Amino acid sequence: MTLEEYLRDRGQEVDRWLDKLLPSEETTPSEIHKAMRYSMFAGGKRLRPILVVAAGEAFSVVPELLYPIASAIEMIHTYSLIHDDLPAMDNDDLRRGRPTCHKVFGEAMAILAGDALLTRAFEVVAKLSVPSDKQLNKIEIITEIASAAGTVNALIGGQAVDILSEGKPVSAETLDYIHSAKTGALITASVRVGAIMGGANPDELELITKYGNMAGLAFQITDDLLDVLATSEQLGKTAGKDANVQKATYVALHGIEESRKRANELAKSAIEAVQSLSKPSWALEEIAKFFIERAS
Ligand code: IPE
Ligand code: IPE
Ligand code: MG
Ligand code: MG
Ligand code: MG
Repeated sequence: MTLEEYLRDRGQEVDRWLDKLLPSEETTPSEIHKAMRYSMFAGGKRLRPILVVAAGEAFSVVPELLYPIASAIEMIHTYSLIHDDLPAMDNDDLRRGRPTCHKVFGEAMAILAGDALLTRAFEVVAKLSVPSDKQLNKIEIITEIASAAGTVNALIGGQAVDILSEGKPVSAETLDYIHSAKTGALITASVRVGAIMGGANPDELELITKYGNMAGLAFQITDDLLDVLATSEQLGKTAGKDANVQKATYVALHGIEESRKRANELAKSAIEAVQSLSKPSWALEEIAKFFIERAS
């Protein structure tokens, strides 16, 4: 199987689960469910849920346990994008190749659609029925996801510092904090929850965490690079925005060449971490490469 085939296959399965797990458009109140589904099924790459699946497969977790958790992570990611695009935040008109949620449904519905996806994510994992020997793993996974979505070295914390740093000089340390928190935390949680469900031991979990931290930072550095190097058509979101609003980015602080070099080094270290596992994972290795080679 090529990576392309793997991403397509696992991505389609994630979409099937998401479709089952989200209320239909007809469910009352219809408008909010339409808004949630509009952003969810706009064609995201599904990389975080695929990471959950890839890590889970490495630890022999059955699909019925993996895909609901993977879907929950994608719900949280999609919520973060809807809110990231709001006028009060990055004020973006284009996302996943379509007008942003607030452009179509209005700001109030977009805020609520984000809130609803975040809430539904936890409902899905909490309701997941697991064998009795996996109950504790499930609680650990809920904790893991909540921490990654939170404010301490996590998604909202990173988003807060990202917004507060606009137009200001930032140190390399602050920039790494922003990137590791706003993007790296959920990517790290994605691989950790797959491994935790599979009963990974502390050494294995440490290697998986290393992989997530390195690959997660490399992913956001590449996002910064693509903002200047790719077109809006390629990205499905507005290119060239970061410089306009003087965002703290890798490109702004370190330049294109240095950013590329750093992303390459990080991906290499991520791959080495996975290669040290007793259960090496072809998919996790390939995904780390894809994180820095992707064109969108
Ligand atoms: C975009 O993430 C936001 C970042 C954290 C950089 P993706 O590039 O994974 O976006 P989708 O899910 O494919 O739309
Ligand atoms: C967004 O970072 C990170 C999160 C949504 C948590 P960006 O603001 O760089 O993402 P894009 O470029 O709009 O996708
Ligand atoms: Mg942003
Ligand atoms: Mg943005
Ligand atoms: Mg960006």
